[in-house]
Amino acid sequence: MEQKTNTTSSPPNSSTEIGTKFETLPTSAKIIPVTQRYLQLHRNSLVNIESFWSKIAQEEIDWFKHWDHTLEWNPPFAKWFVGGKLNACFNCLDRHLQTSTRNKVAYYWENEHGERRVLSYQDMYFEVNKLAWLLKNEFKVSSETSCVTIYLPMVPELPIAMLACARLGVPFTVVFSGFSSQSLSGRINDSRSDLLLTADVGFRRGKTIPLKKIADEALENAPGVRAVLVLKRRQENVEMKKGRDFLWDEEIAKCKDIFSPPIVEPQPMESNHPLYLLYSSGTTGKPKAIVHGTGGYLTYVTATCKWVFDPSPSDIYWCAADVGWVTGHSYIVFGPLSLGLTSILYEGAFDFPTNDQLWKIVENYKVNILYTSPTALRGLMKYGDEPVERHELSSLRVLGTVGEPINPHVWKWYYEKVGGGRCPIVDTWWQTETGGIMVSPSPKLGLVPLKPGSATYPLPGIDAEVYDENGVPAKVGEKGYIVIRKPWPGMLLSLWGDDERYRQVYWSKFKGVYYAGDYCLRDEDGYFWLLGRADEVLKVAGHRLGTIEIEDALGSHPAVAESAVAGKPDEIKGETIAAFVVLRAGNLPTRELAIELTNHVREMIGPIATPSEIHFVKSLPKTRSGKIMRRVVKAVANGMENIGDITTLEDETSVEEVRRAVLEFEQELRKATSP
Ligand code: WTA
Repeated sequence: MEQKTNTTSSPPNSSTEIGTKFETLPTSAKIIPVTQRYLQLHRNSLVNIESFWSKIAQEEIDWFKHWDHTLEWNPPFAKWFVGGKLNACFNCLDRHLQTSTRNKVAYYWENEHGERRVLSYQDMYFEVNKLAWLLKNEFKVSSETSCVTIYLPMVPELPIAMLACARLGVPFTVVFSGFSSQSLSGRINDSRSDLLLTADVGFRRGKTIPLKKIADEALENAPGVRAVLVLKRRQENVEMKKGRDFLWDEEIAKCKDIFSPPIVEPQPMESNHPLYLLYSSGTTGKPKAIVHGTGGYLTYVTATCKWVFDPSPSDIYWCAADVGWVTGHSYIVFGPLSLGLTSILYEGAFDFPTNDQLWKIVENYKVNILYTSPTALRGLMKYGDEPVERHELSSLRVLGTVGEPINPHVWKWYYEKVGGGRCPIVDTWWQTETGGIMVSPSPKLGLVPLKPGSATYPLPGIDAEVYDENGVPAKVGEKGYIVIRKPWPGMLLSLWGDDERYRQVYWSKFKGVYYAGDYCLRDEDGYFWLLGRADEVLKVAGHRLGTIEIEDALGSHPAVAESAVAGKPDEIKGETIAAFVVLRAGNLPTRELAIELTNHVREMIGPIATPSEIHFVKSLPKTRSGKIMRRVVKAVANGMENIGDITTLEDETSVEEVRRAVLEFEQELRKATSP
């Protein structure tokens, strides 16, 4: 392992903020031997991706049956380790019981009230088996079952539920516990789930989130659900519907009557059997379900967790994300458990009850590896250095970030103040679709000099490139689109029930390569600089949201004729949501209505989608064929002078309308905030 943590002398002058032009290239890092070795290793891995991944799948994963073909590539559909049989839960738990990992802690759980639980691998094994027994024998789920929806907060029962499903070979879908009843019912129906696992409540920032109540509302529109298993966390009564709702603990207690503890054999699944579906926002209205398989996905998250975080067996590892998102699936559940690591599982905000909560946890548990998001770091930076300095953070060894481009000054703060200049920052670029980390420094394989704001190079086996608009590699320093030219084991199998949309979204912009929808450039050292989304997807506090999804939510309010949503740069959240709304005749553009519309979007999608600005306009910029020119709306909303080509614009006054609305808003804001 290379221990050296070089950073180039200065970060780029320009920012990597979404939509801004990259003006100055970073100082060239001299290509030093460690970089040459890494790039050689990377080149070698691509000579024969099948033999490369085949070796890793054999080394990292336990298979019940070896595969017949490493890769069946019928572009754009890839099947990895075809004919191989394995079980993801077996790899995450059972196989560790034969070793000293058996008594090792799998999860230290804690919440913001200071409640704690500790679960060893052995404990996890028993808990998962009990639930799997229940799901199989009482609720009659089988690998033929379409899907199980899991709507749980960050409690140990969330990974337990995921693993119990995986043990039975039942695909599951986790719905982030901050989503609304509408979002939940949409996902239950789309995935054709007939079983829901939920809890009475979740806790966040001192608030109690009534999950069961939200689930009940969702189920009014999701008639396919025949049973609900409810984890009761509080003494207070939970409203239960007879014949449909069952209490988790009561049902589990029944297992004891049969034999103790119940053991359910892990079901050997073909490598390409869907492990889970995860809904993610895209460029069309409804979020789509990304489908991940079993063998390829598990191989990929296991290998990348090792390469990027370089964990040692005694490490305390904390991926401070929510299991409801892909980061949690891959790097709180499947990756670290497959490697037998000890993780922290934390329910709550990082600055509650006090603004040093995150640092307190790092100190208390002597965390060695911390993985979080630029949004979280910016949120904590606003409290200054004092909360960080108050804590002993010398246990930290590797620091990771994910979800959005990291601003160079935030990177430097993380590196210097949090990591004391000792810890490499692994800026990891990837997506729900890619299953695991794609572009990132790799302390395990050879740490190249770091440049604040660059994710450095692709991981081995990943053939990433930046293409220009014509589908050829962009010139040095030229902004283009990141693409992946060869399949990799973590890639999505498809979109749930919609192969055509899968083909169209990811494989139609450039022939034969995966299009990620992100802007990117490569500098003179070949480093990758990710520059934000190139499409109608927003990243608000790291959460992925589609502009059209928010417009659809607005459009479902009776007062709204039409709307256009644009992202605006924000110091903490990365982006915030600005909505431009044309009202139906008879509605007045009042402050009350703006508040009502804001609440309406919250209710339709969830608090993460709350617009921070609602502007009423008389018309929206449209093409002559009636399509809203979002690019123009975004440019005007962001105060850009040059709004690009508007020759197809139907009515120029609509641009002035948007400009006027933004100006008025800013004036009001100034008035409201001036002393
Ligand atoms: C963005 C999250 C810059 C990117 C794992 C991508 C990043 C989207 C980075 C996927 C990074 C993620 N630097 N941008 N290190 N990591 N992104 O599906 O726009 O929630 O396309 O997966 O996040 O978001 P998703």
